[in-house]
Amino acid sequence: MSVSVIIDLFFGDCGKGRCSDYLMEKHDIGVRFNGGPNSGHTIFVGGKKYVTHLLPASALHPGKISVLTPGVCVDMAVLKEDITNTGLSGDPSRVLLIDPRCPVILEEHRVRDVSMTSKKIGTTGRGVGPTMEDQAARVGKRYGEVYAGATTDTSEFLYRSICRGKSVLFEGAQGHYLDLWHGTYPFVTSAPVTVGAVCTNAGIPPRLITDIYGVFKIYSTRVGEGPFPTEEFGPVSEFIREEGHEYGATTGRPRRVGWLDLPMIKKACRVNGVNWLFLTKVDILSSLSSFPVCVDRDLKGNPVYKEVRGWQTPIGHMRTYGELPDQLKELLALIERKLETPITHVSVGPERNEVVVI
Ligand code: IMP
Ligand code: MG
Repeated sequence: MSVSVIIDLFFGDCGKGRCSDYLMEKHDIGVRFNGGPNSGHTIFVGGKKYVTHLLPASALHPGKISVLTPGVCVDMAVLKEDITNTGLSGDPSRVLLIDPRCPVILEEHRVRDVSMTSKKIGTTGRGVGPTMEDQAARVGKRYGEVYAGATTDTSEFLYRSICRGKSVLFEGAQGHYLDLWHGTYPFVTSAPVTVGAVCTNAGIPPRLITDIYGVFKIYSTRVGEGPFPTEEFGPVSEFIREEGHEYGATTGRPRRVGWLDLPMIKKACRVNGVNWLFLTKVDILSSLSSFPVCVDRDLKGNPVYKEVRGWQTPIGHMRTYGELPDQLKELLALIERKLETPITHVSVGPERNEVVVI
């Protein structure tokens, strides 16, 4: 029995969707506990691309239960699209449970999300910030009062399921540095996204959590405004943006690109208590002869880089640690040493099975 959480260790878009889809195999229930249609989780199965905004990856898996707990801002139009696009609606073996306490995004929230403040921050404009404002002001509408139909006390459902030995996967949204409290305020989202949000939003006690997976890419991206210490502007950033399809899954905006920032990732590991690391998009840098990785900060707080050797060979077909090129093994060892946390999964391509389990 495992109760796992997936947390993005940077600014979102590190591949939580694909990690969640992969790990769903050994879980019974997939849960979203925060964010809303501001998030976009991209998953490839059998060459087909799925982008979900509100549903966890479990929605793509026959026989699995998907849950939206309090803390998830529901936009009904987006939810309906997700339900159709994932195939959940046409498969009675896939169940969706929605908590009546989910805040509801209405037209007025989307309108308010194009204000000057929203522009300065570079929000996704999906109405999530204003909906959270109304929740805090205690004037917002909730799912159970707006929509007729079955709802579930998901806190109780999850507690009972875990007590009966079911495995649950909590799929975080956004990323550590977009957290309202621990992120790069004011350039952050409107809610907590760190591991604690699982307990406060879903209403389950911390002692039930068994595994915390931290997800990060071999390079970095950020969409929207705000600080990004290892940002890269040269032609190589263009190359990575194209090769890695680094355009917002929700807004289509080009993502800002930079180098892996290990001191920032390490801090995110500490705050979230990460046990296992899931490294993604390693294949995207396969053609580079070498590239920088930020390993430290100098006395002025500027990034200190180490140039690491590239492997210059395709790796998408590799499935075992033994097959990986030596240069990549060296890099994995460097990352584990710096982060003091084991890497258990390396994603070498977007498809469901393109993962090396270490
Ligand atoms: P909001 O969440 O739409 O209010 O946007 C606040 C900030 O978080 C902006 O910089 C957005 O680009 C960013 N953001 C929100 N959701 C995501 C996400 O799922 N991935 C990446 N960035 C996000
Ligand atoms: Mg995304």
